[in-house]
Amino acid sequence: MSPKNGKANSGQSYSNIEAGSERSRPILHQKAREIQPYNKIAKLPIALDEKVCADSVENLNQLLADTITLRDMYKKHHWQVVGHTFYQLHLLFDKHHGEEDELVDSIAERIQVLGGVSIAMAHDVAETTLIPRPPRGREEAPVQISRLLEAHELILKEAHTMAKQAADAGDDGTNDLVVSEIIRTNELQVWFLAEHLVDVPLVKADDASAEPTKAKAASARA
Ligand SMILES: [Fe+2]
Repeated sequence: MSPKNGKANSGQSYSNIEAGSERSRPILHQKAREIQPYNKIAKLPIALDEKVCADSVENLNQLLADTITLRDMYKKHHWQVVGHTFYQLHLLFDKHHGEEDELVDSIAERIQVLGGVSIAMAHDVAETTLIPRPPRGREEAPVQISRLLEAHELILKEAHTMAKQAADAGDDGTNDLVVSEIIRTNELQVWFLAEHLVDVPLVKADDASAEPTKAKAASARA
């Protein structure tokens, strides 16, 4: 409202200005009891019994908390990486962050399909994850990569166990998600990370690596 003719307002009160718009006003500061507690199932008609859904939801929420933590660790390392391989690792960490983010969404939505409640907020994730908390400060790149590899292996171990449990219980959808998306994606990311920790020369080949070739030539002459 811009003042007209030097007046603060034209004499109209706020209530007159707002009269008739009550139904389009947002209703703010609403509160109510939650409609489904965490750890309870609101079963959907998906041809799986309640116990099977509840067991898969419990497993998937653990996997979700760990996947959210790994995803966030990738972003931390994307920002904080340092050294000669800065640019390459900066990009790789962000690529893996994006792929982990897609897994987070798939796991969370599978939990909802099973009638469960997905863990979501950082506070709850921090209390649930089994991945050790990294320091707030910056670390060297090989330490970052080692930390990521350990987190991947923890997730892969639990994923293998959960995939088998889901298959044995007849929860094919959860088994498919865990095997086709979670295990395959994590394994591929492990490969891309682990190759950075192989200690090979960057520019000049190590002399010692030529030895087997010399020995082979000598044995061929003999
Ligand atoms: Fe970025």
